[in-house]
Parts: sequence; C-alpha cells; structure tokens
Amino acid sequence: MATKQKTIYFCKECGASSSTWLGKCPHCGAWNSFVEEVVKRNDSSNKTSRQPNKTTEAMLITDIPLSQMQRTNTHNAELNRVLGGGLVAGSVILVGGEPGIGKSTLLLQVALDCKDQTVLYVSGEESSEQIKMRAERLNGQNSRCYILTETDCEHILSQAENLHPDIIVIDSVQTLTVEYIDATAGSVSQIRECAARLSRYAKETATPLFLIGHITKDGNIAGPKILEHMVDVVLQFEGDRNYGYRILRSIKNRYGSTAELGIYEMQTYGLREVNNPSEILLSGREEQLSGTAIAATVEGSRTIMIETQALVAHSFYPSPQRTSTGFDLRRLSMLLAVLEKREGLRIGNKDVFLNIAGGIRVFDTATDLAIIASLISSSQEKPVSSKHCFAAEIGLSSEIRPVTHINERISEANKLGFERIYISKYNLKGITPSQYRLEIVPLAKIDDLMRYIL
Ligand code: TYD
Ligand code: MG
Repeated sequence: MATKQKTIYFCKECGASSSTWLGKCPHCGAWNSFVEEVVKRNDSSNKTSRQPNKTTEAMLITDIPLSQMQRTNTHNAELNRVLGGGLVAGSVILVGGEPGIGKSTLLLQVALDCKDQTVLYVSGEESSEQIKMRAERLNGQNSRCYILTETDCEHILSQAENLHPDIIVIDSVQTLTVEYIDATAGSVSQIRECAARLSRYAKETATPLFLIGHITKDGNIAGPKILEHMVDVVLQFEGDRNYGYRILRSIKNRYGSTAELGIYEMQTYGLREVNNPSEILLSGREEQLSGTAIAATVEGSRTIMIETQALVAHSFYPSPQRTSTGFDLRRLSMLLAVLEKREGLRIGNKDVFLNIAGGIRVFDTATDLAIIASLISSSQEKPVSSKHCFAAEIGLSSEIRPVTHINERISEANKLGFERIYISKYNLKGITPSQYRLEIVPLAKIDDLMRYIL
C-alpha cells in the first residue's frame, strides 16, 4: 500500500499545523506550543466522510421540535446539577481530572445507575474483569450496561451502531486510535480525529457521549486545546487525593451554567453524593484556635461554609515563604500587601501558609474577609470564634466591598447556627436583619474588623 510518511507540527492550543517547528503559533499566538508528529496517511481510504449521500436541510428555528432537547436523568443529582439538569441528547461531555481522582468510578457508577437506559461503557484502560470487579465493589447492577474493551475507534462505532445505546462512555479519549492515521494513541492528530468521529456519531444519532480525558502536569486536558472547543460540555473532576472530597466543576457548558458545582465523597464503595457540603467542610472543632476563620462562599447556586486556615510564622530565610492551598496565591499576596501597607501589620518578613480545609479550591472573592481575619488572628495570636463567619471582598485600599448573593450567605449561616456574620456595610441595603437570628456586623474598612478581633 502506498503510504506517505511525513512529520507535521501541531499547535497544542489551537490545533494549527505547520511543516516546521515554530516557537510562536502564528494563529493563536501561543508560545512553545508546537509538538512534532509523524503522520502516515493511507490516501486510498478517506474514511472521514462516512455518509456522503446523507444531506441535511436548513430548518426554521421555529420548526425545530424541542423534544430533541429533552434531558435524560443520569440518576446522579450532583451530575445532573452540573450538567444543567440532565443529559442533553447528542451532547458530548468531556470529563477531565488527575489520575486516580475517580473519573472511571464516577462514570461507571452513572452507567450502572441508569437502569432505564442502554449504556455502552468503552474502556481502553482496563480489562472487562477489572471493570466487573469495580462494578461489584460499587455494588451496582444494570442488566442493560454493555462493557467493551477496545481502543479502535472504527470498531467502537460499529459496536455502537449494532447496540444503539442511549448513553456512551469512553474511558479514555487518549487511548483511542483510528488506523488511517499512523500516530500513537494520545497524539494530537489521533485525539482530534477520534473525538471528531465520535462526536459526529453522537450528533447524528442524538446519543449523549461522555469522553474521559487525562490532564497534564499543568492541569490542562491532555491533547489539543481544540478538543475542548469540539465538545459541548467540559467538566473537571478535582480534589485532594488525601481527602475524600471530590468536586465536579463545569468549565464549559453549552446547555447550562458553568458556575455549578457537584460535590462527592470517595468512600470504600464508590462515590457518595454530598447534598449538604457546609457541614462536612467545617472541621467541627470545639476549642478556639487562632488562625482560622469561616467564609460564607457561593459556588454555583450553592452556599458553602468553608474554613480558611492561616499560619503566620517567623521566617528563618532571607526571602519568606508564601504557600497557599486551595486559594489563588496571587490574591493572597495582594491581601498580604494590603495588610502590610494599609494596616501596618508587619508580615512582610514572616512565612505565611494558607489552607482551605477539606482540600477544595475556592474562587469566590467573598472569601477575602475570612482570609484577612485568619491572617490577623494568626499573626496576633487572637482566636476568632468558630460561631462567627465572614463574607466580603477586600479592595486595594483596604475597603470592605459588597458581594453578590448576600441573602443566601446570611441564610445559610443562620441555618447552620452561626451567631455572627461580618459583611460589607454596602451590602446592608436589601437585607432585613430582623428576619435572622444571627447578628449582622457591617464593616467599612479592615480597621473595623481589627477592632472586633483584637
Ligand atoms: P478511578 O476511578 O480509577 O480514577 P481515574 O479513573 O480518575 O484515574 O479511581 C481510583 C481511586 O479511587 C483509587 O485510588 C481507589 C479509589 N476508590 C475508592 O476509594 N472507592 C471505590 O469504591 C473505588 C471504585 C475506587
Ligand atoms: Mg480511569
């Protein structure tokens, strides 16, 4: 067979190709993003056009039946929430996460729980026995769940055409290959082609498709960035492996909000859905310790009370250390600079460690005030009551700024039995303090907070 072999360089960010290596991608401007690939094409077989005779016709938007958009229940409340209310027919969902975080477990669990659906679970990483063992461990049974251990994309598609599954799971997209591209599994061209083939099948047959994707050292989904553009939904499964909690975050969602969040706990027999996250993320301590403060944060549509822990200690090095787990390090540096410059707190020469309890990551800027409180508390050795919580953003001139969803934050704190919440005074309008049992303390500047803590 006449095969041509050539080397092509692909941009990992946008998928652009070039015959030579380039330091900067001329298309998307990314630096050092080109990777080399050997591509051999069997020119005779142009298998990409599967149904050349099939044509589609333009249709008026008013004539499109909405039944095509009806959502399938995944029987997993947290996943449904993150997806925006269930699976949309024909949608392609990419689930990324570090190795061992529980991607395979989550999707096998979904496959076993969807008893009213035919599910095709394709694994290129584990043998059928291993999957069976995992299913036994998860204690799940689904007489309509098919397991296929295969990495050849063509074969997977022909099996799917025979079985007509209602849901397909591919574990993982990095193991798939098509034989007409002679690059190794996991290379840019294989991933791009396999994902395109599978998503075309998903769209044509209106079958929801889950693709599990590995992530690289720097936290991005391995393979071309273009993979994220090709799919409808990108979910990130994350958590600290030392803790049991796992967070399913939506990064992109064509059919729902990306602010949504699903919380699970990894147990001996699979993932448990966590419906009331606040109670587990608070350490539940009785005694008063310095350096901790509780933030009323909002993630998606949920209010979560999160414990922030800070340690400000004498540094033995010329340049003090700043470490942050679960919170943006640059934002921590900003908060430290505000404390140093505006409040005269001498922490520039101290080591600062910040930790968000429970191994989760927070993005809500309303966490600022609690972090400031725990930093002040640790550096001054003055405990903050565990019955108090905080919800406000800090500005560069040490002003305490209002945050969104203030009523939800106060209600959650009230419900969990907190006695006091510190908020920005600009958040006062729009809330009726008399409707809550807890005391609401409005603050304008960090000075006001200092007065309460010290
Ligand atoms: P897995 O789903 O294989 O991770 P991924 O597919 O993301 O690489 O999860 C593996 C981890 O989960 C492994 O360290 C064992 C743990 N685990 C449990 O704690 N309980 C369980 O019921 C299962 C199935 C796995
Ligand atoms: Mg896996």
